[in-house]
Amino acid sequence: MEAPQRTRPREDWFDDDYIGFWLTREEERAAERHQQFVKIRAVIPKHQHDAFRYLNLGAGPGNLDEVLLDYYPHAEAVLLDGSMAMLAEARKRLERHEGRVEFVQANLDSPDWVGAVQGPFDAVVSSIAIHNLRDPRRIRALYAEIFPLVGHGGVFYNLEYVRLARPGLAPLVNKAATDPEAGFHAGHGGGGSPGTADEQLGWIHEAGFAVADCLWKEFNVALLAGIRDHIHLGDDAHEAHGEHAEHGHHEEHGHHEEHAGHGEHH
Ligand SMILES: C[S@@+](CC[C@H](N)C(=O)[O-])C[C@H]1O[C@@H](n2cnc3c(N)ncnc32)[C@H](O)[C@@H]1O
Repeated sequence: MEAPQRTRPREDWFDDDYIGFWLTREEERAAERHQQFVKIRAVIPKHQHDAFRYLNLGAGPGNLDEVLLDYYPHAEAVLLDGSMAMLAEARKRLERHEGRVEFVQANLDSPDWVGAVQGPFDAVVSSIAIHNLRDPRRIRALYAEIFPLVGHGGVFYNLEYVRLARPGLAPLVNKAATDPEAGFHAGHGGGGSPGTADEQLGWIHEAGFAVADCLWKEFNVALLAGIRDHIHLGDDAHEAHGEHAEHGHHEEHGHHEEHAGHGEHH
């Protein structure tokens, strides 16, 4: 008798079978995903040796966090996910960064998740996770819940599936991915998305972010950005003084304290 083919389990992020299936498939896309993660790394408004704190929503196995924590040696991360199995994977992956990482299990389906984390954060990031909430009204509300957690000078970056503005473009997505030299990957993934890039940017702006823009986009994958108020990159103390960035460290903490009370809720 022939062995039964392993069928794709139904997408359910609270089902460990589906998580196991997703993690295996993800390894095959590691190079492509890495390219997306480094895009987020590149636009973090901090110099490499600055101290800062960020929150990753739907962090999954911590692959984005590995890229961020390896590069920014003084960054501290809070990884939030609904799945204990994913958080266990992330804990393994980030073992060498122990002491800089906090793991939080919470469900983004309800606004209660906000009580599980302590802001403000210099950055709130998310990668291919928020579309899982499916309901555009919930995603819109989530963006409004994120805003007060972002400190002054902070950012929200959501690398996410977006719906094509014109369904007629769909055949081009797969066609483009057949020309490897062009580097299009969008045809490889793309769960249904609850909003176009423009719609999502509208929700981010409406949440309170002074600037909402798309920093990168490839058909149905986009890096959506919400800038809370301003970007303040300042001097790179490490570069300027040719020494360890203790200076930048203190400035950043001072900045936090100064603005800690400003996280007004909507
Ligand atoms: C496609 S994976 C992406 C993981 C990771 N951010 C990445 O880019 O590789 C989606 C993640 O969102 C999490 N997730 C899905 N629905 C969620 C919910 N309602 N609350 C919290 N996390 C959720 C899943 O457990 C999973 O880790």
